[in-house]
Amino acid sequence: MKILSIIGARPQFIKAAVVSKALLAQGLHEIVINTGQHYDYNMSDVFLKNLNMLPPHYNLGAGSGSHATMTAAILCGCEEVMIKEKPDWVLVYGDTNSTLAGALSAAKLKIPVAHVEAGIRMLPKDMPEEINRVLVDRISSLMFCPTLRAVQNLRNENIVNGVIHTGDVMLDLFQTMKSEFDVSIVEKLELKRPFVLVTLHRDYNVDNKNTLECILMELNQVAKSFEIVFPMHPRTAKRITNFGLEKLISSIKITEPLPYSSVMGLLSKSEFLITDSGGLQKESYFAGKRALVVMPDTGWIELTDARINVLAGVNEISGKINQISSSGNFITGIFGDGFASQKIARVFAEM
Ligand code: UD1
Repeated sequence: MKILSIIGARPQFIKAAVVSKALLAQGLHEIVINTGQHYDYNMSDVFLKNLNMLPPHYNLGAGSGSHATMTAAILCGCEEVMIKEKPDWVLVYGDTNSTLAGALSAAKLKIPVAHVEAGIRMLPKDMPEEINRVLVDRISSLMFCPTLRAVQNLRNENIVNGVIHTGDVMLDLFQTMKSEFDVSIVEKLELKRPFVLVTLHRDYNVDNKNTLECILMELNQVAKSFEIVFPMHPRTAKRITNFGLEKLISSIKITEPLPYSSVMGLLSKSEFLITDSGGLQKESYFAGKRALVVMPDTGWIELTDARINVLAGVNEISGKINQISSSGNFITGIFGDGFASQKIARVFAEM
């Protein structure tokens, strides 16, 4: 059996790191396309290196540009490879433009699609990631769900065939890499404890000047009580420069995007997390930390229902900090048992 996997954005390198190894362990033949959606070294190659991944077989170099430009370039590039490689399955991850374009090119060639992290739903419906998620689940033959809620979300849309509850591959990676988390980063960055880790990159948080200004002013309030470290996504960095908001980051320690082991090292030593990242919301829970989630909704509603994570509007960040420290008890098992990638590989191996 030949499986063609499509990765290209930072969260996909992280998810594929464990799944590719599990496929190999089952003796399956995997070909990997890197779409190049993320192209800075710190957003792409560093993960391949840091997570001991094999180099992708194909690099499309389709990063940057508008959603349409990028999606179209990935569609064309993937189609060419699929025609040449004739895979039995195409494997896509998460909710990025690479996920959508990869799945769509396969579906049009009548190659079955398997979707890792299927069934996640959240508002607003017009966010690019939600559009990608919904469309990819519609054209997938296998949907590997990280949570039971994701299974239920699909059932609510009358999707039941091919839905498999596996648990979350990000938990697998967290458990595998835990002993290698780089806590020395705290000293390297000369952070004084207690500190708070911040990451923000969602288009609705950073693409509008007033919204971004409001968020940075809120972070300045938080900085009166905690040191803040903010590994900054290139999208956010560009907007701060374009909007002329540099004066609002003088009390925040900004770094380049960091490798997985460093972010996990920071997370494990932080007081709590402020984020709009889908992945970090879960990873903070894996690390026994709490997160203030700067989003109108979350795909990981189990964590907000359990009051481990708290949602905050952009003008509520400093005001809601007290709610994080006093929130609910840690419950376990939401994201499976840390063997999601093996379960996924076994599904293919037993076909
Ligand atoms: C994408 C995903 C998002 C995911 C995020 C993780 C979509 C629609 N969104 O958002 O779900 O949480 O990745 O990081 O696919 N840029 C660089 N260097 C890079 C990568 C991007 O400068 O290495 C710039 C791009 O040129 C663009 C901006 O950052 O101006 C946004 O990049 P893009 O990949 O479109 O979306 P993300 O915001 O990263």
